[in-house]
Amino acid sequence: MNPSIDPIPFARPMIGSDEEAAVLRVMRSGWLTTGDEASAFEREFAAFVGCRHALAVNSATAGLHLALEAHGIGPGDEVLLSPYTFASAAAVVRHLGARPVFVDVERDGFNIDPEALAETAAAHPTARAVMPVHFAGLPCRMDRIIEVARAHQLVVIEDAAHAFPSPTAGGYAGTIGDTGVFSFYATKTITTGEGGMVCTKDDEVARRITMMRLHGIDRTVWDRYRTPGATWKYDVHEAGFKYNLPDILAAIGRVQLGRAEAFLESRKRIAARYREAFSDADFLTLPPDGDGNAFHLFVVRLKLDSLTIGRDEFIASLAERGIGCSVHFIPLHVTRFYAGTYGLFERQFPRALEAYRRAVSLPIYPGLDDDPIDRIIDAVRAVGAAHRRIR
Ligand SMILES: Cc1ncc(COP(=O)(O)O)c(C=O)c1O
Repeated sequence: MNPSIDPIPFARPMIGSDEEAAVLRVMRSGWLTTGDEASAFEREFAAFVGCRHALAVNSATAGLHLALEAHGIGPGDEVLLSPYTFASAAAVVRHLGARPVFVDVERDGFNIDPEALAETAAAHPTARAVMPVHFAGLPCRMDRIIEVARAHQLVVIEDAAHAFPSPTAGGYAGTIGDTGVFSFYATKTITTGEGGMVCTKDDEVARRITMMRLHGIDRTVWDRYRTPGATWKYDVHEAGFKYNLPDILAAIGRVQLGRAEAFLESRKRIAARYREAFSDADFLTLPPDGDGNAFHLFVVRLKLDSLTIGRDEFIASLAERGIGCSVHFIPLHVTRFYAGTYGLFERQFPRALEAYRRAVSLPIYPGLDDDPIDRIIDAVRAVGAAHRRIR
């Protein structure tokens, strides 16, 4: 990269003085781990998305693990999901002794194809759950997915790691199925550094997750030490996990939650700029859009037959111009572990494969002002023009 160019990172969290003050307040309170702040974050998040139970956890990965476990997924079960997702979604299925079964994405989209889901569900009578991921923040076709799930007695666990806030006619993404899981990882639409939230309408699932996220014991540390009449006593009901969200992080989450609508407006503005700027670009395809898009990612697809370079070179050329890009995702069925363990081959999920080969995720985050957006647009257009295939 030219050293005189100011690099534009692919992602950057928006952390300001309010988040700093919130952390300081908790640090000075004498209570750092899960307590009042985490409970307040849960109440506020539940009110925001309109769900019955919101349970704070230390990652979405932990949340997906807990959600599957609480819905009774275990050895011998199958869980349906698209390969176009992050590694942890399939890993937690394995951790429970169950088997991930992949279903291809929609034509020209990145979300699971509900018709392919119906076919796979019919062919897999031992499937117990489906985990649709609202890729890039664009809600999946939940009406049809829920219809298919009901027909095949599948629990619907939404992976809403990218989808906050994603308001749809049927409610916020993450609250439409049986249980939904959000991520507050550093690059997500709101962040606590690491963190997540599980939303469920099911009282029994909420009770189970509350217990399993903290060692399978029947009382939280806060209950044991801080509530009136507190006692040190507890009992262990299960071999649980250590998946609780500490108050220091919950305090950041509460501030970020209050900024979520403003963040969304910024992301929408950037997406609109990209859409306009690339509307006549003949070397790429714009991502699908629709109601409730949280614009976590902006993934364009290169038209590889109109370019003389491949996707990786395209990203390298942007990097030389100081533009940080990424690729979401390497489909799980082409990764060493999943391909090897389940005997999967590349063309088995042709749409996911095609999406991956062409995908470039451009920077999209609230701190991105007009100048860097202009630079990104100019750079993408320049790389496209410099490598146009002449026919
Ligand atoms: C679709 C999807 N699901 C789950 C996760 C896991 O989130 P976390 O890092 O909070 O565990 C991610 C993280 O990037 C993701 O992109």
